[in-house]
Amino acid sequence: MENELIKLKNDASSLVIAAEDEQELNEIKLDFLGKNGKLTLLLKDIKKVPEESRREVGMLANEILSSVEELIERRIVEFKGKTREAIKKETLDVTMPGKKPRPGHLHLITQAIEEISQIFAHIGFERVRHPEVEWDWYAFGALNFPENHPARDDWETFFIDEAQHEKHGQMILTPHTSSGQIREMTKGKLPIKMLNIAKCYRRQSDVSHSQIFHQFETLIVGENISIANLKGTLDYFVKSWFGPERKTRLRPYHFQFTEPSFETDVSCGVCNGTGKLPDGTKCRLCKEGWLEIGGAGMVHPNVLKACGIDPEKYTGFASGWGVERVLMMREGLELDDLRILYSNNLDFLEQF
Ligand code: PHE
Repeated sequence: MENELIKLKNDASSLVIAAEDEQELNEIKLDFLGKNGKLTLLLKDIKKVPEESRREVGMLANEILSSVEELIERRIVEFKGKTREAIKKETLDVTMPGKKPRPGHLHLITQAIEEISQIFAHIGFERVRHPEVEWDWYAFGALNFPENHPARDDWETFFIDEAQHEKHGQMILTPHTSSGQIREMTKGKLPIKMLNIAKCYRRQSDVSHSQIFHQFETLIVGENISIANLKGTLDYFVKSWFGPERKTRLRPYHFQFTEPSFETDVSCGVCNGTGKLPDGTKCRLCKEGWLEIGGAGMVHPNVLKACGIDPEKYTGFASGWGVERVLMMREGLELDDLRILYSNNLDFLEQF
């Protein structure tokens, strides 16, 4: 027994001394001192040693155990110390010239959203936020789209594979900010004067469409709200955003949730709304002096009713335009691929 103990000690010691890194030391430690380690197993046999020499052998065993342990720990510390020294060598020289952080700026869509919000805030529109993951009822049902009505197809909607809401139907990604109209009108507080700016999602992806884009939606509901208020508000926005010389035109159109409905046009900034260039040739940017900008209309009585608002007493108007669209129109941005707006391409973004 004693000889075996001394042999193990010698074996362990020479291995520890030769070890080249901490990992190797840990392996040696496990091999000798671990649960099934050589030394550990041998110590279990002490009870077999004849009574008269057991005490002595026990003392020797303990001595060997702690000396091997100590040796291993000492070398582990040595290795750790080495890395510490290596780190110390990499001291920070504060006199070295620094690297200048590259100044960033807000994304151009974010800049546009802030500017649009400010323009509308001047005339009392309150910015609101509503879910982008919506129920069918808010995006279609309450907006006067009957079940299975073909007009729903105009909004190429993402449907989410989730259990239906018992009252509000299928879960979807909202394809337009008009769902925010219903969210506001069902709050039960009048008058309403909201600006809802949000991401919208449609199943469309090509050079001129992205699956995600932004709309800004106005909604006013109160007493005596008329088309004149609608026209005045949109005109104010157009003049603030594009410039005071620009004019607004409403063209009859159809939406399920407004009646009457309009497509809004803005006079072309290139030919000054004339459709002709100074040399007499046709303006290539617009159609006879006008550029199409987005939808608008008077809130349909069925929509008011669906939200518990009396259409005999209250009227309202709404508009929904694309943030990307007004931005590109103003900047004269002709993007080969609209999706570059969301690509995090710094060569592109740094130009703004
Ligand atoms: N939600 C419509 C769209 O996405 C735009 C719209 C908003 C039209 C409000 C009328 C009133 O095309």
